[in-house]
Amino acid sequence: MDVTFTNTLPSSGHLLVPFFDETSDLPAAFSSQLGEGARAQLQAVLTKSKLLGQKGNHLTTVSPEGLTDVSVTLWNAGSKSDFDAEVFGAEVMAAFRTREESELAFHLINAALPAEDVARVAVGARLAAYRFDKHRSKPQPKNETRVTSLTLIVNETEPALASYQNYYGPVCDGHLQARDLINEPANVLFPKAYAERIKALEECGLEVEVLDEKKMAALKMNALLGVGQGSARESQLVIMKWMGGGKEEAPVCFVGKGITFDSGGISLKPSNGMWNMKGDMGGSAAVVGAMQALALRKAKANVIGIVALAENMPDGNAQNPGDVITSMSGQTIELQSTDAEGRLVLADALWYAKETFQPKAMVDLATLTGAKLVALGSEHAALFTNQDELAQEFASSSSKCAERTWRLPLLPEYDRMLDSETADMKNSVAGGAGSITAAQFLQRFVGEIPWVHLDIAGSATKLDRKDPREPSFAVGFGVRLLNQWVADYYES
Ligand code: BES
Ligand code: MN
Ligand code: ZN
Repeated sequence: MDVTFTNTLPSSGHLLVPFFDETSDLPAAFSSQLGEGARAQLQAVLTKSKLLGQKGNHLTTVSPEGLTDVSVTLWNAGSKSDFDAEVFGAEVMAAFRTREESELAFHLINAALPAEDVARVAVGARLAAYRFDKHRSKPQPKNETRVTSLTLIVNETEPALASYQNYYGPVCDGHLQARDLINEPANVLFPKAYAERIKALEECGLEVEVLDEKKMAALKMNALLGVGQGSARESQLVIMKWMGGGKEEAPVCFVGKGITFDSGGISLKPSNGMWNMKGDMGGSAAVVGAMQALALRKAKANVIGIVALAENMPDGNAQNPGDVITSMSGQTIELQSTDAEGRLVLADALWYAKETFQPKAMVDLATLTGAKLVALGSEHAALFTNQDELAQEFASSSSKCAERTWRLPLLPEYDRMLDSETADMKNSVAGGAGSITAAQFLQRFVGEIPWVHLDIAGSATKLDRKDPREPSFAVGFGVRLLNQWVADYYES
């Protein structure tokens, strides 16, 4: 969707005129642009049609005087006091999605929004217009987004355009990239194909390195390699670098779980809904999308993204429950369940990140446990950290970008539950607190590095959705949060 900013009225297409619920008087400012005749006509429609009282009420009317080829919709944008620019953009786009209208203009002059909010209207509209249509043999009218051009009409175009081009647009690009990766089926996006897609992002200015199984074997990444061992597809570890900060400054690392399909392995999952597990790479997609966003907006920070890509399948070569493996760290792991595979690939990826980059901080994202869904549903990601300051930082960044997190505890008492009779630890534990014991497992591979773990099971993908900004299975949770945290704490 093309997004443009202007201070003049369109000569074709559809003009959306929002008004706030506090008053049914279209501001006099309208007459200077639309002419008094058109303003009076629209005012009459607005007064008579009684659109006040409910956000989202709207009415399309014939072209008013002086706007011959433009149709107009009056839109109740709710109360000015709790106006959210992104939600507004998304709600309008959701209503217009399947209307036979390709050009949509928002008349935002009277709303007098700050430049950032104007840019966020466009973001909301793009999030709501999102479709994953590439695998359809023909367009599906009921599902298609018809609007291809979005124009935002404001008094001062420069600051809004700058905010969109230099910040919100690139972040939205990264966000939609994450959705595309997650929605992609596992027969298309297997680890090698995924690594190639990431490699293509060098175009944005990222430096990308791919480690194949041979290189990972040389590094003794047996925990990661074991997960992909039952798959016909080769596992990959992909490292993305964005060094936009000071030369001497240690980077922060983002680490993502990228299981392109999680069948459970020999500990096979029930077949019902198993297709969802094509989205078990949602953590890695957030990392890739965030890295793309940071590169596109030329963030002044050193950030490294690492994604561990593998397919978890059962076959004659697959690992078995009861097997003992030695991770890159040297710590040994007894497999209780081959379905607790995310923590295995992350164990090696986190250790690799720590050893290779000595980062200032590490953040991992993973669709890690069903238990997280039980505890928090999909409204919050579960956040774990070994540093209270990081918890505060994430709470603050989270509140600025519509991606909610909720902290859960780490404690030696939970850590002890991982103890194994046979090896240094086991990979899955009975006895409750499944998300916490998974986080405790990861903590054994981060050493003293300040670290945050985000369990985004049920947040990265959703089957049941109400928010107009989330029109597809893939939500793309994490891109905005990672980007916001870098902007808030690592850019000067
Ligand atoms: N990918 C799943 C977790 C998951 C479940 C993500 C539902 C999204 C929706 C993960 O690999 C898994 O299978 N976890 C097991 C762990 C258990 C064996 C300790 C789980 O949650 O059941
Ligand atoms: Mn699993
Ligand atoms: Zn999984």
